[in-house]
Amino acid sequence: MPSISLPRIRQAALASALALGSLASAAADRLPTLDGKPPLVIAHRGASGYLPEHTLAGYELAVRMGADYVEPDLQLTRDGQLVAMHDLSLERTTDVAAKFAARNGGYLVSDFSLEEIRSLSMRPQGTAQTSYPGFTPSTPHPLRVPTLEEIIALVRRLEANGSRAIGLYPEAKQPGPRLATQILTVLSASGYVGTDKVFIQSFDADTIRSLQRRQAAMGLNFKLVLLNGSANRLLAMDLQRIAGYAQGVGVSIRGEGMSRSFIEMAHAAGLTVHGYTFAEGRPAQGEPEVRKHLNWGMDGVFANYPDVALRARAQAAAPR
Ligand code: G3P
Ligand code: CA
Repeated sequence: MPSISLPRIRQAALASALALGSLASAAADRLPTLDGKPPLVIAHRGASGYLPEHTLAGYELAVRMGADYVEPDLQLTRDGQLVAMHDLSLERTTDVAAKFAARNGGYLVSDFSLEEIRSLSMRPQGTAQTSYPGFTPSTPHPLRVPTLEEIIALVRRLEANGSRAIGLYPEAKQPGPRLATQILTVLSASGYVGTDKVFIQSFDADTIRSLQRRQAAMGLNFKLVLLNGSANRLLAMDLQRIAGYAQGVGVSIRGEGMSRSFIEMAHAAGLTVHGYTFAEGRPAQGEPEVRKHLNWGMDGVFANYPDVALRARAQAAAPR
């Protein structure tokens, strides 16, 4: 990605987003979160409203804006490597169809090797572009599909340079123990322990239970989050029961049953509540949406526009 020389005003915007992150954190402990700490801003697929989703460029921009966590959706390649990719197929977000013939009738991540996937370019979706004003990525291949190890290396370097801890929020996109175990193995080999800023998430309750068992066997203790598109379905699963194997729930803010009382019930069961996805494709919608949910006590927000979520967190925390 070329370095872009930009009008000063846009560079100032990035700098002020960064400052806003720490200001908001300082004040946001007035919000009714489960642990009384400021709610988290989680960069959903990176700063995916601005740069192609699940790229090192997108994760780095999110961190520079002040996001607390970056969220890689993870899948295994044919040769067993963990790469960041939301869809099971490579087709929507990369140029795979222009470079390779279909395999088994499509372009599943699991049918391609890491070397082949590394040769692909990511295509921006929605409001994302291939560059962001005033931002030059610091990695050599900012717009290709990254491995979990590459994401961790980036995060560790940005932590060292910025003197703050940056959270990782990996999602096991393929159910089953193989992918889950590989996530734990890579995190552990990279020096992460249970006290680090890590949440592991899955839509599949069996995967979360298997993560609970396997990380206990490995001496790890990462926080686990069960995802669901509907707060009502989580209620039907029994929040107390979920709290037996997970520390939190990730819930669609547009699904049935999302409300202040759902958050209060989850908190009463000891579960943290993270909502997804704010300002989906419409950044202007983000601030009121985030403010409303943070005032209800939501503990974290998955945001495609981390700067918008940080601004909203500062507003929600401001004294009235
Ligand atoms: O993981 C929370 C949220 O990202 C779930 O939605 O489909 O973007 O992975 P999705
Ligand atoms: Ca996700």
